[in-house]
Amino acid sequence: MTFDFAALAPAGSPAPAVKWTGLSKYHFIGGNNDPAEVPVAGLKAAAAAVLEREGRNLATYNLTTGPQGYRPLRDFLVGKLKRDAGIACTADDIMIVSGSLQALDLVHGALLERGDTIICERDCYEGTLNRYTRLGVNVIGIPLDEGGLRMDALEAALADLRAKGVRPKFIYTIPTVQNPTATIMDEERRTKLLALADQYGVPIFEDDCYADLIWNGQRPPALYAMSKSENVIHIGSFSKSIAPALRVGFIVAPWSVMSRMLALKTDAGSGALEQMVLAEYCKTNFETHVPELRAALKKKLDTLVDSLSEQFGTAAEFDYPPGGIFLWVKLPDNVDTMKLYNAALAAGVAINPGPNWSADKTWSRSRLRLCFASPSHEQIKEGVAVLAEVCRKEFGVPLRSANIERKA
Ligand SMILES: Cc1ncc(COP(=O)(O)O)c(C=O)c1O
Repeated sequence: MTFDFAALAPAGSPAPAVKWTGLSKYHFIGGNNDPAEVPVAGLKAAAAAVLEREGRNLATYNLTTGPQGYRPLRDFLVGKLKRDAGIACTADDIMIVSGSLQALDLVHGALLERGDTIICERDCYEGTLNRYTRLGVNVIGIPLDEGGLRMDALEAALADLRAKGVRPKFIYTIPTVQNPTATIMDEERRTKLLALADQYGVPIFEDDCYADLIWNGQRPPALYAMSKSENVIHIGSFSKSIAPALRVGFIVAPWSVMSRMLALKTDAGSGALEQMVLAEYCKTNFETHVPELRAALKKKLDTLVDSLSEQFGTAAEFDYPPGGIFLWVKLPDNVDTMKLYNAALAAGVAINPGPNWSADKTWSRSRLRLCFASPSHEQIKEGVAVLAEVCRKEFGVPLRSANIERKA
């Protein structure tokens, strides 16, 4: 007889994970990056140089630069955030974490408890939505338009909550290349958002990991930079600009909340080697690497857009994203993307069904998210053709593909 650990699981534990069965042949899911664009040679050289110079510091937890992370990496971020996002901060305002997923956990740990209410974009990152479900937090999803979070709807929600005596803990937003819609909130709307946050006494949680991937390289200033009342927590990541498996992200926050998150970061520091290698690599290479990555990603987006037009025609609706790694697609109303997900997976195509990426499961029923960064151009073309075939078999659409009329 084998021991039954399941009987010991605390009440409210998440459902057990299923065993990993490998990547799908056509892998359009997750926030993976382009394998061809990982700067392997540069990272190798950086690793050799930094280990030669500072390798012995690995004997000390947190190297020798304290629990907020490797100081040269924080120094790099101080310059980068000033230059790109307009954020004036010091290394003391930054904490390096194990991917921005850990940042989410630390912010949530510092601010949320069961029964709380938060506000976010209606269509929203699955990793965040799942956390709210697990934490037992009420989620108010605000619709987006082509400029991101809609301010009229936000204002109405804030007023409604106030009338009910509910003060949301924060407004969570991905304002710069939103996941999954890829919208960018312009400066005017950011000003309005900050004004509403001040008016209602609600802080903002700004998740900014895609900001380096805007095709034209022009981003609006971060909400953190624009705030005059220290009411913004800003998180970012090297996952999208360099590589997600490194697991290096960061938090920029006022000390009043930074100090609480530090008290919750009990893992004795995030992976030191990754931080060292990134700092060494980024100080001389970041600014040349990112435009190359952007150009490669945009080419893949174009392949995806062409493939969808060819295979789905008008059955696939989307706005051309200004950056990022995702396309948010609307299929005809009769398509249930949760069902499409299973059928497509059986045919080797992994997609992210809309309801997992939205606080509104009905609105998102026939939507899906496709990551175009990680599959090759060939895989994108073939995968979209297989997806169209599966969709036609299951739901009778698209009626035409590759300009050929098809039978359902
Ligand atoms: C909006 C958003 N936040 C956070 C993350 C987590 O990224 P990481 O932990 O790799 O930094 C992702 C990953 O896709 C994301 O899309």
